[in-house]
Amino acid sequence: MRVLSVASESVPLIKTGGLADVVGALPAALAGQGIEMRVMIPAYHGILEKLGAVEEVWADWNLYGGHARLLKGSIGGVTILALDAPYLYHRPGGPYADKGGDYRDNPERFAALSWAAATVARDGTGDGWKPEVLHAHDWQAALAPAYLRYHGDGGVKSVLTIHNIAFQGVTGGDRLESLRLPWHAWHPDQAEYHGNLSTLKAGLVTADAITTVSPTYARELMRPEFGMGLEGVIGARAHDLSGILNGVDENTWNPETETAARPYSATDLKPKAENRAALIDEFGLGDVPGPLAIVVSRLTWQKGIDLLAEALPDFIDAGGGLVLLGSGEHGLEQAMHAAAKRFPDRVGLRIGYDEPLAHRMFAGGDAVLVPSRFEPCGLTQMYGLKYGAVPVVAATGGLNDTVIGASPASLAANAATGIAFHPVDGIALSGALHQLVQLYNDRAGWTRLVKRAMKAEVGWSRPAAAYGALYRSLTT
Ligand code: ADP
Ligand code: GLC
Repeated sequence: MRVLSVASESVPLIKTGGLADVVGALPAALAGQGIEMRVMIPAYHGILEKLGAVEEVWADWNLYGGHARLLKGSIGGVTILALDAPYLYHRPGGPYADKGGDYRDNPERFAALSWAAATVARDGTGDGWKPEVLHAHDWQAALAPAYLRYHGDGGVKSVLTIHNIAFQGVTGGDRLESLRLPWHAWHPDQAEYHGNLSTLKAGLVTADAITTVSPTYARELMRPEFGMGLEGVIGARAHDLSGILNGVDENTWNPETETAARPYSATDLKPKAENRAALIDEFGLGDVPGPLAIVVSRLTWQKGIDLLAEALPDFIDAGGGLVLLGSGEHGLEQAMHAAAKRFPDRVGLRIGYDEPLAHRMFAGGDAVLVPSRFEPCGLTQMYGLKYGAVPVVAATGGLNDTVIGASPASLAANAATGIAFHPVDGIALSGALHQLVQLYNDRAGWTRLVKRAMKAEVGWSRPAAAYGALYRSLTT
């Protein structure tokens, strides 16, 4: 079976978050299911250089205001279809914004991506490749299923995956025509959304199937607390919605083959202790008698970083330490700066984006903290499991589906793999950190917990089988 995956980011070419990890990992994961997946992304500046030799497989002289070409290349064994439209994508800033904020033509930039995806899914590419399924990710690609529905699908089925409902591709209704949507799309049952247009909504009402990245988030999305206004739209499609957990790319995230730190395994944890000491040195901390916690995250309200600032003093008091890597909202960065200044021996901070450092942190940390207010799936708690950095998570979304929280019952049954707390507030997080210190201080029990975490199944084989089954259910 052939599947065209379309998204705004994909590792190793362009990444701002977990979306890129997932889009980049899916093709290799699905190959074992007999599925050939090609990935279409915009050719942002620098992408073609990374791809090397490319072949033109499609062109359009008027794709949202210019001449666009689809260039086929490959990286790490994955076939990439890079949409080369310099007037849309060659910009010195990031994929969505520069210092001046979001690019004003983002709706058209990603409508162009969606249009190209729908067109080549329907007609095939110049090298004779035609998919049976188009798999679109998030609001940036969500118009692709809509274009198939409104302009003819040529027998192609469509899947839309919601990675984060917080981003809905909302834009003014006056853009209906410039986004190439027909007049009948301007309707509350279609793309119209409270007097505006939402590309995500357009995809949600037109895709043959909808998925999101965990079973718990699939249920949460139908509730007003999580659906962010789209709960009714999603609820109406409950029968076509499923939650498929993300996996971890075990070639990249594997303590046994780690190159950024000393490799280790569940049967030989000694190098992990050395990694811990090195991490403490790298961040210039003093003695940390309790658990050394790590955070690798965007610093946003979603991620509950303000709750962490609130709960931190008690944790430090109890012997804990924290090293944090991330960047984001100014106020949250300031709050973490203040904590690092107040506890210079126990709290270390790096504002920025640094993959090798992230690896060293998982390899040396005792615990990874993920106090998210909502989390569609979350990847860092799974890296924590693999690396024996015990996850301390809010019991929401994919965090709820990947971590078995320690309780008297789950510990007695040797089942716990982390700590889960609810509700998502500072008091509950404080309680969870208190529990972390207690568990850590029982050294034999702690080692058992770390080893269990490391054995948790977080690879791509189960999710890949679920996607395979979904594609087959649509096409047979
Ligand atoms: P989200 O996509 O909502 O940000 P995920 O947990 O799904 O959350 O994915 C985040 C990804 O980005 C992970 O691979 C994580 O390691 C990585 N990441 C986040 N912040 C940083 C950072 N400052 N440096 C390096 N990697 C980061
Ligand atoms: C989004 C979500 C995150 C998820 C990622 C990949 O960025 O915030 O929870 O892991 O997408 O699906």
